[in-house]
Amino acid sequence: MSLNAKFSAATYARRRRQLMRMAGDDAILVLPAAPERVRSRDTHFPYRQDSDLWYLAGFEEPDAVLVLVPGRAHGETLLFCRERDPDREAWDGPRVGPEGAVDALGLDDAYPIDDLDEILPGLLEGRSRVYYHFGRDTDFDLKLIGWLNRVRAQVRLGAQPPHEFLELGHLLDEMRLFKSREELRLMKRAGRISVEAHAAVMRAARPGVHEYELQAELEYVFRRHDAAPAYESIVGAGDNACVLHYRANRAKADAGDLVLVDAGAEFGGYAADITRTFPVDGVFSAEQRALHDVVAQAHAEAAAQARPGVAYGVIHDTAVAVLVEGLLRLGLLKGKAAKLIAEGAYKRFYPHKTGHWIGLDVHDVGDYRIDGESRLLEPGMVFTVEPGLYVPADARGVADKWRGIGIRIEDDFAITRDGHELLTPGLPRSADEIEDFMASR
Ligand code: GLY
Ligand code: MN
Ligand code: MN
Repeated sequence: MSLNAKFSAATYARRRRQLMRMAGDDAILVLPAAPERVRSRDTHFPYRQDSDLWYLAGFEEPDAVLVLVPGRAHGETLLFCRERDPDREAWDGPRVGPEGAVDALGLDDAYPIDDLDEILPGLLEGRSRVYYHFGRDTDFDLKLIGWLNRVRAQVRLGAQPPHEFLELGHLLDEMRLFKSREELRLMKRAGRISVEAHAAVMRAARPGVHEYELQAELEYVFRRHDAAPAYESIVGAGDNACVLHYRANRAKADAGDLVLVDAGAEFGGYAADITRTFPVDGVFSAEQRALHDVVAQAHAEAAAQARPGVAYGVIHDTAVAVLVEGLLRLGLLKGKAAKLIAEGAYKRFYPHKTGHWIGLDVHDVGDYRIDGESRLLEPGMVFTVEPGLYVPADARGVADKWRGIGIRIEDDFAITRDGHELLTPGLPRSADEIEDFMASR
């Protein structure tokens, strides 16, 4: 039996206890594994476990359901999973099996997944509240409704069906938002791998290189470190840098082009998310450098705000203020900064936000606002800072020399007790650093 879990059984048990305490003794929590998805006929997309199940159990097989039943005398933590099967395991690799899962994962009990239909209605009976992610997996939603209906059908015989249905994320997302020291260790490792991968790309860049060749450099480094892309790597040369989620990665980078690379490794389930924009031939043109300097300044000033007690929204507001000032100075915008910001006129060059929580999901869970207000930063929160400027090739009312330039700079930051820690250190960021790095290849 092999388990690839990254933390001790005690750590997962502690997380489950914390979640059950918040849910209360009359609740039941149901967490299905991510479904396998067909890619082509009988082959599947690479399997990735549901982040919540991974967070609470470190269990990586499909066809499983974790059920938490706080206060239940005969066991609070139950896993339904695939049974051992020598024939299938000879084809697909080993399975943990219910017997193995109890010990390896520190659970109270485990059952074959085929018994779920028979057992789950009995677990729901007598519980007043069900915590579950409604709407994430419609097939499973229907199964859950079927089990609930089975309990409801027994009401005249004295059964008590649950009567409150709550969003599991309301409790669990808040737990996941705050990263422990051991989670931060994995995130730093994902950061280090990603930094090495971006450096490899800058080293390999030459006029005439194709975007997919640079993507291969990235992903070679990821795999060498037992990591995988946390999301589809974006490698956009020239105008393609202006397409925010460009993924075709097919074009050729010519001398004079900038290349925007937005890519991060996932290690142990935790994502990194880095963007750099560099000249394929190692030297920025005057216009490229001018815009890059503005974005780099926005990145630096926004990141400098990252400390406990600061409202998360301040990061974005700081970046926008620097970008607008730069756009005015360069003549790409005209008017008064305050008005351009209030009216959102800058959005034609900066249409996205300056960052997002990052963790098990690259766009991680957690509320950004509380009671309508931007929430205050606290130690353990991790997020990206990723300002950019994009002047599409067909932008109107813009001097020709700016057209087709797209730039983004992105790093990952953890809030500490008295400030922040950069999780993606050591990668050239400013125009000078990038030119020096590329000249010394
Ligand atoms: N790579 C997606 C993002 O930066 O949010
Ligand atoms: Mn990114
Ligand atoms: Mn990002």
